[in-house]
Amino acid sequence: MAVHHIDTPFDLVGLRRSLDSHTCRFDVVALAECASTNVQLLEMAEAGAPSGTVLVAERQTAGRGRRGRIWHSSTGDSLTFSLFWRFPEDSRAPSALSLVVGLAIAQALENLGAGGIALKWPNDLLHENRKLAGILIELLPGAPRAAVIGIGINLSVPATLPEALSEHVIGLDSLLGVMSAREAILGALLAELANTFDIYSDQGFAALRGAWQRRHYFTGRTVRLLFDHAPDVYGICAGVDEDGALLLDIEGICQRFIGGEISLRPA
Ligand code: BTN
Repeated sequence: MAVHHIDTPFDLVGLRRSLDSHTCRFDVVALAECASTNVQLLEMAEAGAPSGTVLVAERQTAGRGRRGRIWHSSTGDSLTFSLFWRFPEDSRAPSALSLVVGLAIAQALENLGAGGIALKWPNDLLHENRKLAGILIELLPGAPRAAVIGIGINLSVPATLPEALSEHVIGLDSLLGVMSAREAILGALLAELANTFDIYSDQGFAALRGAWQRRHYFTGRTVRLLFDHAPDVYGICAGVDEDGALLLDIEGICQRFIGGEISLRPA
C-alpha cells in the first residue's frame, strides 16, 4: 500500500495495521480538503490511477449526494472517502453494486461493535430509520465495470446541525461503546469491501442477496418510491431480485424497480 499525505494528520501506520493482509490491494491518498472525493477520484481514474486507489478527505467543499443532492459533512464529524474499483472484464455489469457496498459497510461496522445497522434500498445505511451512511457510485464514462464508490459515514452528529435535520441522522459514536480511530474504521471498511467484491465478482449478487435481505429495514412494509420524472408508486416491499432490483408487491402483482434515480420512503 502506498499512502500519500497531503497536509493531513492521517495515521498511515494505524491504517496499515487495520488493513492487515489487504494492504497491498489499496493505494491511499489522504487530503486535508477537496471539493468532492468522487469528482477528484473520477479524474484520477481517467488519468490512469489503478483499481484500489482510495481518496480520503478531511473536508469536502462540494460533497455530492444521490439524485443531484449536496452531501453535507463537517471536519471531524464524518469519514468521507472514495474507492476506485475495476471489476473483471468478463463479469456482468455490476448492477447490484450499491447494495453490495452497503452490505460490506454494514458488516464491517458491525464487526467493530456497532449493532442494529439496517440497509435501505438501494444504498443507505440506517439505524432505527436514522441515516448513518450514504453511498454514491459513479461509473467511469465508457467503462461499465470501472466504478468510483463514494462513501460518507456520520461519525457523530454535528452540534450545529438544526434539530429538524439532526433527528434524521445518527453518528457511529452513539452505536459504539468506545469510538474507534477513523483509520481503524477506514481499514475495516476497505478490507470488508475487498472481501465482498471478491465474492460478488466470483459468484454474483445471488451469493449476497440473502444477507442483504435480512438487513433490509423495509422488508414486508408498505413503501413509497419517488422518481425524478414519474408519479410516486406504493407497494409492499418483497425483497430484491438477483440483479439488485427492488421487488414490490403492488395489489398482488410483483413488480421490479431498478435504477439510481429512485428513492424509497416509508408510505
Ligand atoms: C447519498 O446518500 O446521497 C450519498 C452520499 C455520498 C457521499 C460521499 S462522501 C464521499 C464521496 N464524495 C462525494 O462527493 N460524495 C461521496
